[in-house]
Amino acid sequence: MAIKISSSEITPEHVYLSRRKFMIGIGALATSAAVLSACGNQVGSTASSANSNEAAPEDIKVSTNTDELGDELTSFSAVTSYNNFYEFTTSKEGVAGMAEGFSTSPWEVEVGGLVNNPKTFSIDDLRTKFDQEERIYRLRCVEGWSMVIPWMGFSLSEILEEVEPTSQAKYVRFETLYDPDRLPGQSSRWYDWPYVEGLRLDEAMNPLATMATGLYGKHLLPQNGAPFRLVVPWKYGFKSIKSIVKIELVDTMPVSLWMDAAPNEYGFYANVNPEVPHPRWSQATERRIGEFGRRDTLPFNGYGEEVAYLYDGMDLRENF
Ligand code: MTE
Repeated sequence: MAIKISSSEITPEHVYLSRRKFMIGIGALATSAAVLSACGNQVGSTASSANSNEAAPEDIKVSTNTDELGDELTSFSAVTSYNNFYEFTTSKEGVAGMAEGFSTSPWEVEVGGLVNNPKTFSIDDLRTKFDQEERIYRLRCVEGWSMVIPWMGFSLSEILEEVEPTSQAKYVRFETLYDPDRLPGQSSRWYDWPYVEGLRLDEAMNPLATMATGLYGKHLLPQNGAPFRLVVPWKYGFKSIKSIVKIELVDTMPVSLWMDAAPNEYGFYANVNPEVPHPRWSQATERRIGEFGRRDTLPFNGYGEEVAYLYDGMDLRENF
């Protein structure tokens, strides 16, 4: 007799609940919107419509209102109007307006370095070649605010498996588009552009390390890092680099834009850690956007069960 095992029985429940296969493509989006409307979020949109093929606001649906801890999703309008994207402006409320009209087509992402099989993917390849899943994750900024965001995307490991890192590859380095004409903040001499981030290879292979192509069932808007960004839910938000054009496998620890700008404030690891304060912000508590008051910050942003093993034996005060 055949025994049916549901995926919730073979995957820990919280992981299962935070990831739902989400078929996109606009036809499929209409179907899922109908199916999911009973429990889906109805959210208003104040965001700009720079992407021509995004769904209309009334089609925005997600499969649940909460993440696996029962925390409510942050509204679409907050997620798309309160942003950090220094290539446009340092004003969080100003990013969406400045980013309106930022063209993300054509867009290519070069994946190379210490790999056997370097590849360049168009944004269409990235949206169609890899199964897009809805992944609801908390985003915790080092400034002490947080959101819960229903991303769409897939594990970074899927791209890495395609290019086959060599045995010399130890880290993954990411780079944002450099184009000061389109990204006016890059004319500022305060930072060494382009924005660069990095992960250790084993961190990058963890299934939670996500390449996002969308949120709330739509392609990413420019202010959220269109068309393709990283999401590392257990680390401070600055690790989640936006508008990526290059992914490189390297043998030495990449120096990120923030490590270069303020090495005493920003380390390579940047794991969410309530016990290690940033010189300017205590990390013990956080304000969830849309809520009053503050809540306790969770180690690894609540994802310790999935990722703590990566740091066994490491001093996380030293490796901040
Ligand atoms: N990526 C680039 N290229 N430039 C940036 O300024 N800001 C980071 C991160 N990725 C940033 C970036 C910071 S500090 C945070 S908190 C998140 O993006 C914010 O993502 P969101 O605006 O989509 O919420």
